[in-house]
Amino acid sequence: MKIIAPSMLSCNFGKLEEEIEMVNQSEAGWFHLDVMDGVFVPNITFGTPILEVFKKYATKHLDAHLMIVNPENYIEKFASLGANTITVHYEACDNLQNTINQIKKLNVKAGVAINPDTDVSVLYSLINEIDLICLMSVFPGFSGQKFIPDTFERLEKLKKIITDKKSQALIQIDGGVSTDNAKKLVSLGADILVAGSFVFKSEDASTTIKKLNSVIN
Ligand code: DX5
Ligand code: ZN
Repeated sequence: MKIIAPSMLSCNFGKLEEEIEMVNQSEAGWFHLDVMDGVFVPNITFGTPILEVFKKYATKHLDAHLMIVNPENYIEKFASLGANTITVHYEACDNLQNTINQIKKLNVKAGVAINPDTDVSVLYSLINEIDLICLMSVFPGFSGQKFIPDTFERLEKLKKIITDKKSQALIQIDGGVSTDNAKKLVSLGADILVAGSFVFKSEDASTTIKKLNSVIN
């Protein structure tokens, strides 16, 4: 079963509780939560107070995507706020191995995200310790950007590494996902598709999630 993870950054924060309930009731599998610090990326989104709201109302897997520097300083906090997966950026970690261990010790799935200009081979040595690889298909920072077509090739390369090394890591694609590319992404090995603006800027978010789901499952 492939998973749709709506990026809540694009939802209407004026009615956050309703948006969360919509996703609870929808065919989405996970909530994708984009935390940005204005340092690692040129944008600031939300942090712990908003996570509290998700902890309270969300009934599905909470996937925290940390686009922040020094993520190791915040992992315990996000784990205590109910994050089921914590994804840190390869580019933001001084010692990725330690950060992965830190996440796993808290009984949380460890995710590693890589930017579009980072070669997938950098994950080769750690691939058997990572639960999820978030392959960025846009440069992190903003929702609503165009999918970078290069991603298909990167995905094939990553899938090959995972297969060769018999890793259990799931592949997540994040950025510019829509019904135009979802099927191809899954056929090349993606397990989880994050979709922000395609879902929340559509006329009916729940129907759009259903549509995406029917394309990939
Ligand atoms: C980008 C974020 C994404 C993004 C997804 O920095 O990590 O999760 O908000 O939004 P769309 O689907 O609109 O590209
Ligand atoms: Zn994200």
